[in-house]
Amino acid sequence: MSERSDNRPRHIAIIMDGNGRWARQRGGPRAHGHQAGFRTTRDIVEACGKLQIESLTLFAFSSENWKRPETEVGFLLDLFLRALQSEVEKLHENRVRIQFIGERSAFSVKLQAQMDQAEKKTENNDGLKLAIAVNYGGRWDIVNATKRIAEDVQRGKLALDDINQQIFGDYISLSQISEPDLFIRTGGEKRISNYLLWHLAYTELYFTNVLWPDFDESELNEALAFYSGRQRRFGRTGEQLVDQNNA
Ligand code: FPP
Repeated sequence: MSERSDNRPRHIAIIMDGNGRWARQRGGPRAHGHQAGFRTTRDIVEACGKLQIESLTLFAFSSENWKRPETEVGFLLDLFLRALQSEVEKLHENRVRIQFIGERSAFSVKLQAQMDQAEKKTENNDGLKLAIAVNYGGRWDIVNATKRIAEDVQRGKLALDDINQQIFGDYISLSQISEPDLFIRTGGEKRISNYLLWHLAYTELYFTNVLWPDFDESELNEALAFYSGRQRRFGRTGEQLVDQNNA
C-alpha cells in the first residue's frame, strides 16, 4: 500500500488489450496490431520514465495466451525476442531496471537467455522499475508462492506460525516493489483476467475503451487524472482521512 503527496501513482500495472481489434478495423492481420502495440509500449515506458513513475508492470503474455493460433503465439514470442534485442541497450542508458515475472521455463533457451541478460545488465539501475509479465497468471503466482513457503517450512527455514500476509508477500512476484496504485486496462473489457490477483487488492481500477495501439501520452494523462481524483481509504472512513490530513 502506498500514498504519495502529489497524488501520482508510484506503481502502474497495465493490461494492454485491443491489438487484434485495432488491426481488424484497418483490415490488416492481427500481427500488425501487435507491432503497433509494441510501438505504444515503447512510448508509454518512455512517458512513465519522464513522469518519474517508480514502477510499471505490463501484461505482455498471459499463461492463457498459449491457446491462441500457433502462428500468433510464434509471432508474439518472436516480437519479444526482437524487442529485447533492439530495446535493452536504450532502456539501460535511461537507467530502467527490467524484470520479468511468470513461468519462463516454457520459453526457448534463446529467449530465456535474453531475459536473464536484460535483468542482469539492468539490475543496478535506479530509474523506472519495468516489470514484464510473460507466461504469467495471478493464480500461478499464488500457488508458486505457496509451494516455496511450504518448501521453507519443510526445511525448517520458516515456522508455520510465522506465515502471515506480509511473509506471503515476500514470496510472491514483485515482492521488492510497492503494490500497484493504479491498474489500467485498455480495449473495453472490464476484467482482471488473472493478472496480479494478490497485488491488486487495494489498487484503483481504470478501464478505457481505447485500443492499446491508440493509447498515447494524453490517454495516460487521463488515467492519471482519474487516479488523482480518487480517495484511497484502505478500509478507513473518509472522515478519518480528513482528520489525518489536517493533523
Ligand atoms: C492483447 O491484445 C495483447 C497481447 C496478448 C499481447 C501484448 C503485446 C504487445 C502490446 C506488444 C509487445 C510488447 C512487448 C513488451 C514486447 P489482443 O490481441 O487480445 O487484442 P484483441 O482483444 O483486440 O484481440
